[in-house]
Amino acid sequence: MEMQIVPAPGWARLANELLREKGTAILLGAADSGKSTLARYLLESLLRKSASVCLVDCDVGQSVLGLPGTITSAVFKHPSDLSRFRPQGIFFVGSDNPAKSMGGMIEGAARMAALCKKKKADITLVDTTGLISGWAGKALKTGKVRRLKPRHIMAIERKGELEQILSAMKALPPEDGKGVRVHRLRPSEHAHNTGRLRRASYREKKFRDYFSGATVIKFPFEKVRFFRKGRALDIKAALEPDGEVKPGCLAGLGWGEEETLGLGIFEGVDPSGVVIMTPVSLARARRVDRISFGEIMAGDFLAARKK
Ligand SMILES: Nc1ncnc2c1ncn2[C@@H]1O[C@H](COP(=O)(O)OP(=O)(O)OP(=O)(O)O)[C@@H](O)[C@H]1O
Ligand SMILES: [Mg+2]
Repeated sequence: MEMQIVPAPGWARLANELLREKGTAILLGAADSGKSTLARYLLESLLRKSASVCLVDCDVGQSVLGLPGTITSAVFKHPSDLSRFRPQGIFFVGSDNPAKSMGGMIEGAARMAALCKKKKADITLVDTTGLISGWAGKALKTGKVRRLKPRHIMAIERKGELEQILSAMKALPPEDGKGVRVHRLRPSEHAHNTGRLRRASYREKKFRDYFSGATVIKFPFEKVRFFRKGRALDIKAALEPDGEVKPGCLAGLGWGEEETLGLGIFEGVDPSGVVIMTPVSLARARRVDRISFGEIMAGDFLAARKK
Protein backbone atom coordinates (compact mmCIF):
# COMPACT_ATOMS: atom_id res chain seq x y z
CA MET A 1 0.00 0.00 0.00
CA GLU A 2 1.95 2.98 -1.25
CA MET A 3 0.27 6.21 -0.41
CA GLN A 4 0.64 9.50 1.35
CA ILE A 5 -0.85 9.30 4.83
CA VAL A 6 -2.40 12.51 6.11
CA PRO A 7 -2.54 12.14 9.91
CA ALA A 8 -5.92 13.08 11.37
CA PRO A 9 -6.24 15.18 14.53
CA GLY A 10 -5.56 13.04 17.57
CA TRP A 11 -3.35 10.44 15.86
CA ALA A 12 -0.09 11.80 17.26
CA ARG A 13 -1.52 11.84 20.77
CA LEU A 14 -2.82 8.32 20.32
CA ALA A 15 0.66 7.13 19.32
CA ASN A 16 2.08 8.70 22.48
CA GLU A 17 -0.52 7.01 24.66
CA LEU A 18 0.21 3.62 23.11
CA LEU A 19 3.90 4.22 23.66
CA ARG A 20 3.31 5.04 27.32
CA GLU A 21 0.86 2.27 28.13
CA LYS A 22 1.99 -0.48 25.74
CA GLY A 23 -0.03 -3.67 25.29
CA THR A 24 -2.43 -4.85 22.62
CA ALA A 25 -4.42 -2.32 20.59
CA ILE A 26 -7.23 -3.43 18.31
CA LEU A 27 -8.67 -1.30 15.51
CA LEU A 28 -12.39 -1.34 14.91
CA GLY A 29 -14.29 0.45 12.16
CA ALA A 30 -16.48 0.00 9.10
CA ALA A 31 -14.98 -0.77 5.67
CA ASP A 32 -12.96 2.17 4.34
CA SER A 33 -12.99 3.99 7.67
CA GLY A 34 -9.18 4.13 7.52
CA LYS A 35 -8.19 1.31 9.91
CA SER A 36 -5.25 0.04 7.88
CA THR A 37 -4.03 3.57 7.23
CA LEU A 38 -4.08 4.37 10.94
CA ALA A 39 -2.36 1.05 11.67
CA ARG A 40 0.41 1.97 9.24
CA TYR A 41 0.74 5.44 10.73
CA LEU A 42 1.01 4.04 14.26
CA LEU A 43 3.45 1.37 13.15
CA GLU A 44 5.80 3.93 11.59
CA SER A 45 5.43 6.44 14.33
CA LEU A 46 6.01 3.93 17.16
CA LEU A 47 9.06 2.50 15.41
CA ARG A 48 10.51 5.99 15.12
CA LYS A 49 10.03 6.33 18.88
CA SER A 50 12.13 3.15 19.32
CA ALA A 51 9.26 0.85 20.35
CA SER A 52 9.00 -2.66 18.96
CA VAL A 53 5.66 -3.28 17.28
CA CYS A 54 3.92 -6.47 16.27
CA LEU A 55 1.33 -6.11 13.54
CA VAL A 56 -1.50 -8.64 13.41
CA ASP A 57 -3.44 -8.41 10.18
CA CYS A 58 -6.83 -10.06 10.65
CA ASP A 59 -8.32 -8.69 7.45
CA VAL A 60 -8.87 -11.81 5.35
CA GLY A 61 -10.17 -9.71 2.44
CA GLN A 62 -8.01 -6.61 1.99
CA SER A 63 -5.00 -8.13 3.73
CA VAL A 64 -2.05 -5.79 4.00
CA LEU A 65 0.67 -7.94 5.52
CA GLY A 66 -0.25 -11.35 4.13
CA LEU A 67 -2.50 -12.87 1.51
CA PRO A 68 -6.30 -12.86 1.40
CA GLY A 69 -7.65 -15.83 3.33
CA THR A 70 -4.94 -15.59 5.99
CA ILE A 71 -4.31 -13.91 9.31
CA THR A 72 -0.67 -12.95 9.69
CA SER A 73 1.74 -11.31 12.07
CA ALA A 74 5.19 -9.77 12.01
CA VAL A 75 7.37 -7.97 14.54
CA PHE A 76 9.17 -4.78 13.58
CA LYS A 77 11.90 -3.35 15.76
CA HIS A 78 13.36 -0.58 13.67
CA PRO A 79 11.99 1.70 10.91
CA SER A 80 14.28 -0.04 8.41
CA ASP A 81 12.49 -3.36 9.13
CA LEU A 82 9.56 -1.97 7.12
CA SER A 83 11.50 -2.66 3.95
CA ARG A 84 10.90 -6.36 4.72
CA PHE A 85 7.16 -6.04 5.13
CA ARG A 86 6.11 -9.67 5.08
CA PRO A 87 4.51 -12.14 7.49
CA GLN A 88 6.50 -14.09 10.05
CA GLY A 89 3.46 -16.00 11.28
CA ILE A 90 0.61 -17.25 9.09
CA PHE A 91 -2.75 -18.67 10.14
CA PHE A 92 -4.72 -20.09 7.24
CA VAL A 93 -8.43 -19.23 7.40
CA GLY A 94 -9.12 -20.21 3.81
CA SER A 95 -11.97 -17.78 3.21
CA ASP A 96 -12.08 -14.08 2.44
CA ASN A 97 -15.55 -13.83 3.94
CA PRO A 98 -15.28 -13.32 7.71
CA ALA A 99 -18.96 -14.05 8.31
CA LYS A 100 -18.49 -17.56 6.91
CA SER A 101 -15.49 -18.43 9.04
CA MET A 102 -16.05 -16.86 12.42
CA GLY A 103 -14.33 -19.59 14.47
CA GLY A 104 -11.21 -19.59 12.30
CA MET A 105 -11.06 -15.79 12.36
CA ILE A 106 -11.06 -15.60 16.14
CA GLU A 107 -8.69 -18.55 16.57
CA GLY A 108 -6.29 -17.09 14.01
CA ALA A 109 -6.30 -13.67 15.63
CA ALA A 110 -5.59 -15.24 19.03
CA ARG A 111 -2.72 -17.39 17.70
CA MET A 112 -1.08 -14.54 15.83
CA ALA A 113 -1.40 -12.22 18.84
CA ALA A 114 0.12 -14.95 21.03
CA LEU A 115 3.11 -14.98 18.69
CA CYS A 116 3.54 -11.24 19.32
CA LYS A 117 3.55 -11.89 23.07
CA LYS A 118 6.17 -14.60 22.64
CA LYS A 119 8.36 -12.22 20.70
CA LYS A 120 7.88 -9.61 23.44
CA ALA A 121 6.80 -6.72 21.25
CA ASP A 122 6.06 -3.54 23.22
CA ILE A 123 2.87 -2.89 21.30
CA THR A 124 0.68 -5.25 19.31
CA LEU A 125 -1.47 -3.55 16.67
CA VAL A 126 -4.43 -5.61 15.47
CA ASP A 127 -6.00 -4.57 12.17
CA THR A 128 -9.43 -6.06 11.42
CA THR A 129 -12.04 -6.43 8.68
CA GLY A 130 -14.80 -3.88 8.21
CA LEU A 131 -17.46 -6.40 9.28
CA ILE A 132 -19.05 -4.64 12.23
CA SER A 133 -22.78 -4.63 11.56
CA GLY A 134 -25.51 -7.09 12.42
CA TRP A 135 -25.22 -10.24 14.43
CA ALA A 136 -22.08 -11.41 12.61
CA GLY A 137 -20.20 -8.16 13.15
CA LYS A 138 -21.01 -8.10 16.83
CA ALA A 139 -20.17 -11.78 17.37
CA LEU A 140 -16.88 -11.50 15.49
CA LYS A 141 -15.63 -8.33 17.14
CA THR A 142 -16.73 -9.14 20.68
CA GLY A 143 -15.36 -12.67 20.24
CA LYS A 144 -12.01 -11.27 19.20
CA VAL A 145 -11.86 -8.81 22.09
CA ARG A 146 -12.77 -11.57 24.51
CA ARG A 147 -9.87 -13.72 23.28
CA LEU A 148 -7.25 -11.02 22.77
CA LYS A 149 -8.06 -9.00 25.90
CA PRO A 150 -6.66 -5.78 24.43
CA ARG A 151 -5.58 -2.86 26.56
CA HIS A 152 -6.78 -0.44 23.86
CA ILE A 153 -9.70 -0.37 21.47
CA MET A 154 -9.36 2.19 18.70
CA ALA A 155 -12.89 2.81 17.50
CA ILE A 156 -13.15 4.70 14.22
CA GLU A 157 -16.75 5.73 13.98
CA ARG A 158 -18.76 7.96 11.68
CA LYS A 159 -22.19 7.92 13.27
CA GLY A 160 -22.84 5.34 15.94
CA GLU A 161 -22.12 2.22 13.86
CA LEU A 162 -19.84 0.73 16.54
CA GLU A 163 -22.13 1.31 19.50
CA GLN A 164 -23.65 -2.17 19.61
CA ILE A 165 -20.15 -3.64 19.77
CA LEU A 166 -18.75 -1.11 22.24
CA SER A 167 -21.64 -1.50 24.65
CA ALA A 168 -21.19 -5.28 24.60
CA MET A 169 -17.51 -4.73 25.46
CA LYS A 170 -18.36 -2.87 28.64
CA ALA A 171 -19.51 -6.16 30.11
CA LEU A 172 -16.14 -7.79 29.49
CA PRO A 173 -13.59 -8.23 32.27
CA PRO A 174 -10.58 -5.95 31.78
CA GLU A 175 -7.02 -7.16 31.18
CA ASP A 176 -4.79 -7.24 34.27
CA GLY A 177 -7.43 -5.29 36.17
CA LYS A 178 -6.33 -2.16 34.31
CA GLY A 179 -9.41 -1.85 32.16
CA VAL A 180 -9.87 -1.49 28.44
CA ARG A 181 -9.34 1.98 27.09
CA VAL A 182 -11.60 2.95 24.23
CA HIS A 183 -10.08 5.61 21.99
CA ARG A 184 -12.81 7.13 19.86
CA LEU A 185 -11.76 8.55 16.53
CA ARG A 186 -13.52 10.02 13.51
CA PRO A 187 -12.61 8.74 10.05
CA SER A 188 -9.99 10.89 8.35
CA GLU A 189 -11.45 13.24 5.75
CA HIS A 190 -9.03 11.57 3.35
CA ALA A 191 -10.56 8.12 3.82
CA HIS A 192 -12.43 7.13 0.69
CA ASN A 193 -14.36 4.14 -0.61
CA THR A 194 -12.30 1.48 -2.29
CA GLY A 195 -15.10 -0.08 -4.35
CA ARG A 196 -15.66 -3.72 -5.26
CA LEU A 197 -13.55 -3.71 -8.39
CA ARG A 198 -10.55 -2.11 -6.71
CA ARG A 199 -10.88 -4.65 -3.90
CA ALA A 200 -10.94 -7.56 -6.35
CA SER A 201 -7.97 -6.28 -8.33
CA TYR A 202 -6.06 -5.74 -5.08
CA ARG A 203 -6.62 -9.41 -4.16
CA GLU A 204 -5.63 -10.49 -7.66
CA LYS A 205 -2.38 -8.56 -7.46
CA LYS A 206 -1.60 -10.06 -4.07
CA PHE A 207 -2.02 -13.60 -5.41
CA ARG A 208 -0.15 -12.87 -8.63
CA ASP A 209 2.86 -11.49 -6.78
CA TYR A 210 2.91 -14.33 -4.29
CA PHE A 211 2.66 -17.10 -6.87
CA SER A 212 4.91 -15.49 -9.50
CA GLY A 213 7.86 -17.78 -8.75
CA ALA A 214 5.81 -20.85 -7.80
CA THR A 215 6.60 -24.40 -8.83
CA VAL A 216 4.48 -27.55 -8.80
CA ILE A 217 5.12 -29.94 -5.92
CA LYS A 218 3.56 -33.31 -5.13
CA PHE A 219 2.59 -34.16 -1.54
CA PRO A 220 2.22 -37.93 -0.98
CA PHE A 221 -1.09 -39.03 0.59
CA GLU A 222 0.62 -41.00 3.33
CA LYS A 223 2.73 -38.08 4.57
CA VAL A 224 -0.02 -35.51 4.91
CA ARG A 225 -3.26 -35.07 6.84
CA PHE A 226 -5.96 -33.03 5.14
CA PHE A 227 -8.33 -30.44 6.54
CA ARG A 228 -11.03 -28.04 5.50
CA LYS A 229 -12.27 -25.24 7.73
CA GLY A 230 -10.44 -26.69 10.70
CA ARG A 231 -11.96 -30.17 10.31
CA ALA A 232 -10.20 -33.34 9.25
CA LEU A 233 -11.09 -34.31 5.70
CA ASP A 234 -11.48 -37.65 3.97
CA ILE A 235 -9.39 -36.61 1.00
CA LYS A 236 -10.62 -39.29 -1.41
CA ALA A 237 -14.29 -38.36 -0.83
CA ALA A 238 -13.52 -34.63 -0.95
CA LEU A 239 -11.98 -35.03 -4.39
CA GLU A 240 -15.01 -36.74 -5.93
CA PRO A 241 -16.59 -34.57 -8.67
CA ASP A 242 -19.28 -33.34 -6.25
CA GLY A 243 -16.86 -33.17 -3.30
CA GLU A 244 -15.73 -30.16 -1.32
CA VAL A 245 -12.31 -29.66 -2.86
CA LYS A 246 -11.92 -28.30 -6.38
CA PRO A 247 -8.83 -27.63 -8.47
CA GLY A 248 -7.85 -23.99 -8.19
CA CYS A 249 -8.67 -23.64 -4.51
CA LEU A 250 -6.24 -21.99 -2.13
CA ALA A 251 -4.51 -24.28 0.34
CA GLY A 252 -2.48 -23.72 3.50
CA LEU A 253 0.67 -25.82 3.83
CA GLY A 254 1.29 -26.60 7.46
CA TRP A 255 3.82 -28.26 9.64
CA GLY A 256 3.25 -29.43 13.20
CA GLU A 257 0.35 -28.14 15.22
CA GLU A 258 0.89 -24.46 14.75
CA GLU A 259 3.01 -23.47 11.85
CA THR A 260 1.84 -22.58 8.35
CA LEU A 261 4.82 -22.52 6.01
CA GLY A 262 3.08 -20.93 3.07
CA LEU A 263 0.20 -21.20 0.65
CA GLY A 264 -0.48 -23.15 -2.49
CA ILE A 265 -3.05 -23.65 -5.20
CA PHE A 266 -4.46 -27.13 -5.49
CA GLU A 267 -4.00 -28.44 -9.03
CA GLY A 268 -5.16 -32.04 -8.89
CA VAL A 269 -4.21 -35.53 -7.81
CA ASP A 270 -2.23 -38.40 -9.18
CA PRO A 271 -2.38 -41.96 -7.81
CA SER A 272 0.04 -41.26 -4.97
CA GLY A 273 -0.56 -37.71 -3.87
CA VAL A 274 -1.94 -34.21 -4.30
CA VAL A 275 -0.33 -31.77 -6.69
CA ILE A 276 0.01 -28.19 -5.53
CA MET A 277 1.54 -25.08 -7.02
CA THR A 278 3.47 -23.12 -4.40
CA PRO A 279 6.37 -20.72 -3.94
CA VAL A 280 7.40 -22.71 -0.83
CA SER A 281 10.80 -24.24 -1.54
CA LEU A 282 11.10 -27.98 -2.13
CA ALA A 283 13.23 -28.32 1.01
CA ARG A 284 10.59 -26.66 3.19
CA ALA A 285 7.75 -28.43 1.41
CA ARG A 286 9.23 -31.77 2.52
CA ARG A 287 8.30 -30.84 6.09
CA VAL A 288 4.63 -30.28 5.26
CA ASP A 289 2.40 -32.74 7.10
CA ARG A 290 -0.90 -30.83 7.07
CA ILE A 291 -2.75 -29.37 4.10
CA SER A 292 -5.78 -27.23 4.68
CA PHE A 293 -8.09 -26.50 1.75
CA GLY A 294 -9.84 -23.16 1.59
CA GLU A 295 -12.76 -21.86 -0.41
CA ILE A 296 -11.02 -19.05 -2.24
CA MET A 297 -10.52 -20.01 -5.89
CA ALA A 298 -7.08 -18.44 -6.16
CA GLY A 299 -6.50 -20.29 -9.43
CA ASP A 300 -9.13 -18.07 -11.06
CA PHE A 301 -7.13 -14.97 -10.17
CA LEU A 302 -4.08 -16.38 -11.94
CA ALA A 303 -6.05 -17.68 -14.90
CA ALA A 304 -7.40 -14.16 -15.49
CA ARG A 305 -3.84 -13.07 -16.23
CA LYS A 306 -3.18 -15.72 -18.87
CA LYS A 307 -6.18 -14.70 -21.00
N1 LIG B 1 -5.40 9.59 6.74
C1 LIG B 1 -5.42 9.24 5.47
N2 LIG B 1 -4.63 9.85 4.56
C2 LIG B 1 -4.66 9.51 3.26
N3 LIG B 1 -5.44 8.53 2.74
C3 LIG B 1 -6.26 7.87 3.59
C4 LIG B 1 -6.29 8.19 4.99
N4 LIG B 1 -7.19 7.37 5.58
C5 LIG B 1 -7.67 6.58 4.61
N5 LIG B 1 -7.13 6.87 3.41
C6 LIG B 1 -7.43 6.21 2.14
O1 LIG B 1 -8.78 5.75 2.17
C7 LIG B 1 -8.91 4.42 1.69
C8 LIG B 1 -9.49 3.51 2.77
O2 LIG B 1 -8.60 3.47 3.88
P1 LIG B 1 -8.12 2.11 4.55
O3 LIG B 1 -7.76 1.11 3.55
O4 LIG B 1 -7.10 2.49 5.56
O5 LIG B 1 -9.48 1.71 5.27
P2 LIG B 1 -9.85 0.38 6.03
O6 LIG B 1 -10.74 0.78 7.16
O7 LIG B 1 -8.62 -0.37 6.38
O8 LIG B 1 -10.68 -0.41 4.93
P3 LIG B 1 -10.99 -2.00 4.85
O9 LIG B 1 -12.08 -2.25 5.84
O10 LIG B 1 -11.42 -2.21 3.46
O11 LIG B 1 -9.74 -2.72 5.19
C9 LIG B 1 -7.52 3.99 1.26
O12 LIG B 1 -7.40 4.17 -0.13
C10 LIG B 1 -6.60 4.95 2.00
O13 LIG B 1 -5.43 5.18 1.26
MG1 LIG C 1 -8.01 -2.34 5.98
